[in-house]
Amino acid sequence: MSYTLPKDFFFGAAMSGPQTEGMWQDGNKLPNLWDTWSNLDITAFYNRVGSYGGNDFSRRHNEDFKLLKSLGLTSVRTSIQWSRLLDQNGNLNPEGERFYHKLFADAKEAGIEIFINLYHFDMPEYLFKRGGWESREVVEAYAHYARLALRTFGKEIRYWFTFNEPIVEPEMRYTQGGWYPFIKNYARARAVQYNISVAHALAVREYHAAKAEGFMLEDSRIGLINCFAPPYTKENPTEADLEALRMTDGVNIRWWLDLVTKGELPQDVIESLDKRGVKLPVRPEDKMILADAKVDWLGCNYYHPERVQAPAKDTDENGIPNFADPYVWPDAEMNVSRGWEIYPQGLYDFAMKIRNEYPELEWFVSENGMGVEREYLKKDDTGIIQDDYRIDFVRRHLEWIARAIADGAKCRGYHYWAVIDNWSWANAFKNRYGFIEVDLENNYERRLKKSASWLRQVAMTHVVS
Ligand code: BGC
Repeated sequence: MSYTLPKDFFFGAAMSGPQTEGMWQDGNKLPNLWDTWSNLDITAFYNRVGSYGGNDFSRRHNEDFKLLKSLGLTSVRTSIQWSRLLDQNGNLNPEGERFYHKLFADAKEAGIEIFINLYHFDMPEYLFKRGGWESREVVEAYAHYARLALRTFGKEIRYWFTFNEPIVEPEMRYTQGGWYPFIKNYARARAVQYNISVAHALAVREYHAAKAEGFMLEDSRIGLINCFAPPYTKENPTEADLEALRMTDGVNIRWWLDLVTKGELPQDVIESLDKRGVKLPVRPEDKMILADAKVDWLGCNYYHPERVQAPAKDTDENGIPNFADPYVWPDAEMNVSRGWEIYPQGLYDFAMKIRNEYPELEWFVSENGMGVEREYLKKDDTGIIQDDYRIDFVRRHLEWIARAIADGAKCRGYHYWAVIDNWSWANAFKNRYGFIEVDLENNYERRLKKSASWLRQVAMTHVVS
């Protein structure tokens, strides 16, 4: 059985500045928190590969654009690095500006459309020292950065996004303590989440102002990218399981959906947090600011479903309120290498939720992909990685997207993460996602994996089989 995607459905690649660009100190780029952490403790990174080199995209981007184009891809979403574009005083760094003008011009020449995201977990170090997302001064600084970026590149970029996965920073840096600066404080995490929401709204305001003043393309759009897919609980849930589901969905998903579709935050979630002693740093003017947060469309990142159940304990060992425990579905199919469940139908469930609750809202799959450890072991005699599992993974996700579109979903395209292997935070190059291998032993040389020719076929024909 094969499925056909609409003619105007787009295929592209997702990546980010801090994970690909490299040249971490060139052109007066300032350190971001990944550089800070790499400098402090390189052993924290898989195989001691820190943030410095990315996947050499800055030097190889022309070759990369050609390769992507040859696979039938027409767009790339990456991010501008705040720490490259602005200097410590919040002025444009001329070298950073030139860097991105050149990148965008080269992409255009290669027939690749660039989508720009303004923030991908890359807080500049000097702003972190001023309080990072806990500080309202930094929120203002972000709005200022957005203003400059929009007005500088407004005629070069059509699709803008304020944040990638704004839920991840409060989780990884402020709740679980997995990322530098390893804070484990639930109230501070929610304050960060709240301030990022205000920052998003201010950036959307900046976007509209820039558009009204003629700095943007007529048909430009603004959006937010998040892992928006709905979580699940057990098949026969108790009241407590349902409550765990409500709070997981409320904090991780509905918070952002309400923000970008209604211009407000879910009151029931805020009240539940309040009851557990979590107070948000709300200012009187915020209601009006948040009202401006509405976007033109969404990017949905989807790797695996979230499954939760009632928590065994009300708080964890750090005294952090625990609203839900993870639930392992007995029938789960796993990507054993990454420890993530594979559940392509999750995309369909998300699509139907959006169709039913926000019928006018357009969206695209902004990330989806399969990371595999020690992929070099899958090479055949000619050195080509035989990644049939990746073909299977993507095919099944595309099939559910095609079914969703047939059932009325306004899903406009698909960006695979990451078509070219790239540096993935503390995991560095441990899990490889690409259709294109990056050879770290040989100066980041690129080599197509087996899946690349399958991808080319699908992207060129729009037939998924
Ligand atoms: C993030 C990427 C990351 C990928 C794979 C996504 O959630 O947006 O930056 O590399 O997951 O772990």
